[in-house]
Amino acid sequence: MMGVRRQNARKALIIPGIFVKKNTVFPNVKILRNTGRCPEKGVPMSILHDFHMHSSFSADSEAPMEQMVLSAGALGLKGICFTEHMDADYPPEYESFEADPSAILKEISRLRPLYDPRFRSINPESGESCGSGRGPDSTDVSVEIGFGLELGMQSHLPERYEKLARDWPFDFLTASQHLTLKKDPYYPEVWKDRSAKEIIGCYYEEQYDNIRKMKEWDTLSHLDYIIRYIPGRQESVYDSPAFHREIIAAILEYVIAQGKCLEVNSAGIRHGLGQPNPAPSILMLYRDLGGEQITIGSDAHTPEHIALGFRETEELLLRCGFSAYTVFYSRMPHTVPLL
Ligand SMILES: [Fe+2]
Repeated sequence: MMGVRRQNARKALIIPGIFVKKNTVFPNVKILRNTGRCPEKGVPMSILHDFHMHSSFSADSEAPMEQMVLSAGALGLKGICFTEHMDADYPPEYESFEADPSAILKEISRLRPLYDPRFRSINPESGESCGSGRGPDSTDVSVEIGFGLELGMQSHLPERYEKLARDWPFDFLTASQHLTLKKDPYYPEVWKDRSAKEIIGCYYEEQYDNIRKMKEWDTLSHLDYIIRYIPGRQESVYDSPAFHREIIAAILEYVIAQGKCLEVNSAGIRHGLGQPNPAPSILMLYRDLGGEQITIGSDAHTPEHIALGFRETEELLLRCGFSAYTVFYSRMPHTVPLL
């Protein structure tokens, strides 16, 4: 379901109450250096982290978590984060999308000593890793494995999600608007009784209302997710800022003012949009409004979709003037430069 359905350098960067010149290091934000390359289709890239993916702990994926880790390792990624679906109170006519944090953490805790260099123990005599750390072809696999959730927003859920954030040692939490008018726009019936422009307008309004109620989130996922499912969208790409600029700008300004990140979700490319979510015009608007902090994820639900579209995404980000992306460990941001 959700898996299937579901200018250059600029001005000043605005964070609450502070103006920071471009390239100024945020207080309390660690800088990570990328030292390797990700050989997607044999082309080197500087995006080495995939911070939006799902495994069989999400209702719309059958991929074993270990297979996702091995695939990420084979691509040369340095870090990934599992952001399993937590769409509490999803409409009952659809399936449940409430992941179990306990089960997820149990499996991540099994995998980390095997594959995550931060958790591997070293044999003091041989100097070798005590974990297997090897894929099926015996190649060494070394990938940092993050524990996250994708929080599906509805107006009555923030308190429930705040408790989750308090109760579990998450690395990263994403906020996602999957519903509008209490329905999932993946399904054709959503589009029957109103114009596409009206439905999409409702979607952005709901998203704006919900992020202002939510406290525990680090990035806003796939802001224009709904445009993937516009009937007939294959014929033209929907230009959201042309029709909904005011509400989209309000969402972006809120993200910036809160010091949060905007996610660039490359799944739009494999969904046939030819561009990530949000669209390049929204990314440019984010830049124009002072936005600099982005996270990057493939929204993979299968091993072969990990980092898919990252090469095109990197080119777009550089054209838009982004010079770095952000990853999270223990809910703390770390910036990684784009080469
Ligand atoms: Fe999503």
